[in-house]
Amino acid sequence: MTGSSSGNIELVPLTAAFVPVAAALHVQGFEDCWDEDALLRLLDVPGTFGLLAFQPGDSAQNGADIPLGFVLIQSVVDEAEIITIVVASAARRMGVAKTLIAGVEERLCANGVVRMLLEVAVDNDPALNLYQGCGFEKVGRRKGYYDRHDGRKVDALVLERVFAQS
Ligand SMILES: CC(C)(COP(=O)(O)OP(=O)(O)OC[C@H]1O[C@@H](n2cnc3c(N)ncnc32)[C@H](O)[C@@H]1OP(=O)(O)O)[C@@H](O)C(=O)NCCC(=O)NCCS
Repeated sequence: MTGSSSGNIELVPLTAAFVPVAAALHVQGFEDCWDEDALLRLLDVPGTFGLLAFQPGDSAQNGADIPLGFVLIQSVVDEAEIITIVVASAARRMGVAKTLIAGVEERLCANGVVRMLLEVAVDNDPALNLYQGCGFEKVGRRKGYYDRHDGRKVDALVLERVFAQS
């Protein structure tokens, strides 16, 4: 794989060829994870794109690239939504999600997008901290938005990040 990089984390477009990798990552992050078919259907929606983060393998030792995480975005005109982001359990707290969001912002800004939105469960502290650190602000709340497998209903917060215009 070749792509943009930050430290030892590289980014490539999430094409259909990487969907099996993405499905294997998604199951590590969500109770209601998306299988390959669901991810392929999403990638087919106009305006949807993804980025895959990986750690390049050591070429001197014929090492394989290690998938670290991915993000999926849907954009319409000048707005975009993060529809999912996940990092492999073993790769968390190493800046992978921050790198993915920075990569997304770079691409969105280059395409004239001015506003990014997302929904996050009120009890998802890692994600809430991530988004706060990336400059997202709360703009709404959806009551009982998530149905948990243990029967609980959990609210979602709607967060927004407006890009500075140059
Ligand atoms: C949320 C998630 C994507 C974060 O990925 P990550 O690569 O570990 O995040 P990063 O290493 O880039 O961390 C960036 C910041 O997020 C916050 N953060 C990340 N994990 C955290 C944790 N477990 N506890 C508290 N804050 C956390 C911190 O502020 C962190 O900055 P710091 O390390 O400098 O303190 C990851 O935990 C994950 O895949 N979770 C399951 C799926 C999920 O909940 N996705 C979001 C749905 S809205």
